Amino acid sequence: MTAKMAASIVEHGEDAFRKLFKFYKRRSSPPDFSEVINFSKPCSEKFLLYSKVFPCELNSSSLNEENVSKAGFIFISNPFLPGAQQFWVKQCLKIYPQKPNVCNLDMHMSSVETENIWEKSKDIIRRKGSVARQPKTLLEKLRWVTLGYHYDWNSKTYSSEKYTAFPEELHLLSHKVAAACGFSGFKAEAGILNYYKADSSLGIHVDESELDHTRPLLSFSFGQTAVFLLGGTKREDCPTAMFMQSGDLMVMSGASRLLYHAVPCIVPAPSGQALPPELALKLETEVQDDDIIQSVSDVDWEVCSCYLQTSRVNMTVRQVLASGQSFPSTQIAQTSEKSEEDTLKSKKRKNESGSACID
Ligand code: OGA
Ligand code: MN
Repeated sequence: MTAKMAASIVEHGEDAFRKLFKFYKRRSSPPDFSEVINFSKPCSEKFLLYSKVFPCELNSSSLNEENVSKAGFIFISNPFLPGAQQFWVKQCLKIYPQKPNVCNLDMHMSSVETENIWEKSKDIIRRKGSVARQPKTLLEKLRWVTLGYHYDWNSKTYSSEKYTAFPEELHLLSHKVAAACGFSGFKAEAGILNYYKADSSLGIHVDESELDHTRPLLSFSFGQTAVFLLGGTKREDCPTAMFMQSGDLMVMSGASRLLYHAVPCIVPAPSGQALPPELALKLETEVQDDDIIQSVSDVDWEVCSCYLQTSRVNMTVRQVLASGQSFPSTQIAQTSEKSEEDTLKSKKRKNESGSACID
């Protein structure tokens, strides 16, 4: 069965999004990926047939008002210079899981146990490969990290009480990307980092917990390729499937800011080439001490590349408050319900607003 057929045959109680999500999530045998858009093959492929998609060079002249308002969802195929991805991967694996940031392991482990995740894991990860079936290291058990205003998965809110300094270099990157897409003055205030294994997925959801929806949501992907589904404002709207490869950026702005989306699967890497060759490249120029991007040592990169052989890391960066806005003094906690999990057999209509948690 093709993806198109899958989406068109909607069973009772099901919707087009869920149908396609299940189509790509199936684990028995790899699904047919032929309907998935590959933006890194510009112009050659079927995506030009989609009237909704238009290719555009990202430079100052492309940023006229017409383009900015027309483009809601912006996909930028790996804009990173050689070597730059290594820096961000190292930040995600070695630096951002450190305190005072919050991670899934903090939910059931003491702060002493979740200290030095990188140090406690690195040698085992480097030596793996040859030794199969070892207990998982802390780094391999990492599923999410929150930055800045730490997202509360239960109340689905951010609050002024749960705030730690947002990493400056990630703010600078986000500010630059947003400005390049026509959004000047973007403030990176909250980050959710998701860590995917080969069999992970991220349920169908809308990110609406931020108080200002006029600001874009930025997404950065590294490591293994994922299928990303972008739907409409209704679950019945059939989603568009696209590959997200290492280095790819997505900007959800305008009308796309509040659309349903999900990551149904990680795409099995072709054997013998688990990582794209550009990830192996080192920075081409000498770095200065005050450069944002620093080079990654060979030993650190060895750990990162071993980890990424089977994993994907995604950073989403959000501005939570409008400029000058503050949190309402009393926050009314909404009903707490996690994102859709495919295994959840609940017949009830689930509340899928708010960020989703990796399954
Ligand atoms: C999210 C999200 C998508 C991804 O964290 O809200 O939608 O590509 N992530 O992991
Ligand atoms: Mn999301």
